[in-house]
Amino acid sequence: MHYHFVSMDARLFRILVVDDEREMCISLSRILTAKGYEAHYETDPSRVLPHLETQCVDLLLLDIKMPRIGGIDLLRMIKTHKIDVPVIMITAYASFDNALLAMKFGAQNVYPKPIDTDRLLEEIGKFAIGASAGGASAGSAVRAPELDYRSDAMKRVIESAEKAAASDVPVLITGETGTGKELVADFLHQRSPRTHKAFTKLNCAAIPDSLLESELFGHEKGAFTGAEGVVRGKFEASDAGSIFLDEIGDMSVASQAKILRVLQEGAFTRLGGTKPVTVDVRVISATNRDITRLIRAGAFREDLYYRLSVVTIDVPPLRNRVEDIPHLTRIFIDVFNRKYGKRIRSISSDVTQIFLSHGWPGNVRELRNCLERAVIYCDGDTLGIGDLPGQYGHGWQACDPSSFAEKSSQMTKAIILEALSRTEGSKQKAAELLRIDRKTLYNNMKKLGLR
Ligand SMILES: Nc1ncnc2c1ncn2[C@@H]1O[C@H](COP(=O)(O)OP(=O)(O)OP(=O)(O)O)[C@@H](O)[C@H]1O
Ligand SMILES: [Mg+2]
Repeated sequence: MHYHFVSMDARLFRILVVDDEREMCISLSRILTAKGYEAHYETDPSRVLPHLETQCVDLLLLDIKMPRIGGIDLLRMIKTHKIDVPVIMITAYASFDNALLAMKFGAQNVYPKPIDTDRLLEEIGKFAIGASAGGASAGSAVRAPELDYRSDAMKRVIESAEKAAASDVPVLITGETGTGKELVADFLHQRSPRTHKAFTKLNCAAIPDSLLESELFGHEKGAFTGAEGVVRGKFEASDAGSIFLDEIGDMSVASQAKILRVLQEGAFTRLGGTKPVTVDVRVISATNRDITRLIRAGAFREDLYYRLSVVTIDVPPLRNRVEDIPHLTRIFIDVFNRKYGKRIRSISSDVTQIFLSHGWPGNVRELRNCLERAVIYCDGDTLGIGDLPGQYGHGWQACDPSSFAEKSSQMTKAIILEALSRTEGSKQKAAELLRIDRKTLYNNMKKLGLR
């Protein structure tokens, strides 16, 4: 995890501009430099990740539409590689969908082109001030993230995690992006009898397939040019402990076969080695992809799926456990108050309304990002609607009660028509199929203008 706790006073706030149009990069860099920032740019999206991994960047300005690797792809890669940098997206094709997608994968805000530079500079200014405040409080320890919840749905998740922790069986954690799967994995290991042994993590999506095997199983002299001596892989390093295979759905079928063998035999051979190495490792894996769909498409081995998922824990999306929203909001405001030296005590009721009705496609991660930005923006003691990125305002409009009514009646209509067509027009049978009484069906049909 990269975080830059360097005192900001010692150096300038560094911004990386990424756009495939060089003129755009140059003109933005000029504007930023004139404001006293240190600006760099990349026109080739494939160079962004190496840049972020080797150089200190405080803020990323990212174009959405670029050839080959788009801005959203880059956002996902940044998340997979756990690079902690705020990202502001820029797009010529501003659509609500694009903005939602960007927020889902961790962007702080989305600006349409032509850019309103005043607003953008204001936002960057807030981040720069925030970063310097964060730098100042770097001495105080930042609490490791913990699973916080209020909802019964999460209570059930924790209960089954607790049960699974006591045994040694493999656990597969599923759920949408940002729901907290990694925190559940941490919890599982901590509560297991292996808690004092190693817990290693490997993100299968972050490593090219050619390196994955050597990462997992290690290698011996002569395995490939330059390989010297014996290098232990993650499986050996986790002996007597647990291994977390994250984003397992992104692993190639070839690597899946090797994982399957370890699970079946408790043994593997190092790359270039001949002797099998025996290990005792508890496997916890996670994915935000629909594994059954991957199996049907031939992209995931069914036998491996059964081995990995002796216990499956599904972490529900945030929108299905709204009780957690106010609770997590308070916790995150607290965290960011301390980080940025703010004194926010409450949130306005319109923000509460938006938070409860927003769909949170990026789940807890999105809520956390949204609140970090809002805390940086907020100058008073009450967080208001003006402190949220504009997209959340739109979200509120998209969810206004009239459109809700329209959408739900469209849906009801579709469901009733489908039932009637399956029962060849028999209302009695349709009502049975829908598990409602005939009168309710008639009333609904009348209301929707169906006969
Ligand atoms: N219940 C929670 N309480 C506090 N923080 C949470 C909770 N759930 C998630 N988070 C925070 O949200 C962010 C995303 O969580 P995490 O990385 O575990 O998600 P994930 O399910 O693994 O997502 P992905 O599929 O994208 O990898 C992290 O910053 C994490 O600390
Ligand atoms: Mg994860």
